[in-house]
Amino acid sequence: MQHLIRTSDFSKEEILDIFADAREFLKSKPNEILKGKIIVTLFFENSTRTRSSFEIAAKRLGAEVVSLDVGTSSASKGETIYDTVANINAMKPDAIVVRHSECGLPESLKGFVGCPIINAGDGRHSHPTQALLDLFTISEHYNGETEGKKIAIVGDVRNSRVAGSNRRLLPRFGIEVNLVAPDCFKYESDDFKQYNNIREIIDELDIIMSLRSQLERHNLTYFESLNEYAKDYCITNELVGDRDIILLHPGPVNRNIDISDEMLKDPRTKVLTQVTNGVAIRAAILKKLILNKI
Ligand code: CP
Repeated sequence: MQHLIRTSDFSKEEILDIFADAREFLKSKPNEILKGKIIVTLFFENSTRTRSSFEIAAKRLGAEVVSLDVGTSSASKGETIYDTVANINAMKPDAIVVRHSECGLPESLKGFVGCPIINAGDGRHSHPTQALLDLFTISEHYNGETEGKKIAIVGDVRNSRVAGSNRRLLPRFGIEVNLVAPDCFKYESDDFKQYNNIREIIDELDIIMSLRSQLERHNLTYFESLNEYAKDYCITNELVGDRDIILLHPGPVNRNIDISDEMLKDPRTKVLTQVTNGVAIRAAILKKLILNKI
């Protein structure tokens, strides 16, 4: 049985098959290929896009979705996540989608289940479905020609699980990853070129990925305020100019901190395309993991 804990759980060929299915799902009407299947979502951290898009994807394929309201679940009575998952698993779902603040938690749940676990974000570590939809968005924009493209991932690269998954995934498809961050958000490794200011590299870029500062994971003590941070890290029309660049952001966007209001309206900004693609990619992942389950 296959799980999706990190993007390396899928080979390059499997990812391209997922993209082919996602492309079809974007064009086609809802179907019933997962009719009779039940997907449980367990979100121990807040979500708008990931949770809704998994639910919509499942319903578009004819599956039923049970979303555990963690706030009113027996977790509040002291039940451990492992017991919660073992009990949900005893109800025989066909897949469990889980988001949690603890890095590595989805991996450690694998021994408690008889169905695929899909990681919908674990702490600072990984957000594999987000990285796959980001790569799909890039790949569709460039008609599959990702080799040699250059991206700058800008902002809180140290604490962002989206950055973590993209750092690992994009180079497998020939995309050069550059990281742009203030010292307090720098990734502690020499594996990538790192810059303090995007102006140092912007002329070489094809793609910018802006990130939200993960205030739930740290105190922004380095800057007096997000407005001070924004002076160097907000992506604006003035910064991008007339360059042939696409701009991504996983959401939620802090307007005028991560991306200016005006740049959010620019056709080069693909934030809502990413969200639309997220439903198709998650549908393709559900199809693969549930129908290939042995
Ligand atoms: N990109 C993302 O994970 O958004 P949500 O937190 O709204 O799910």
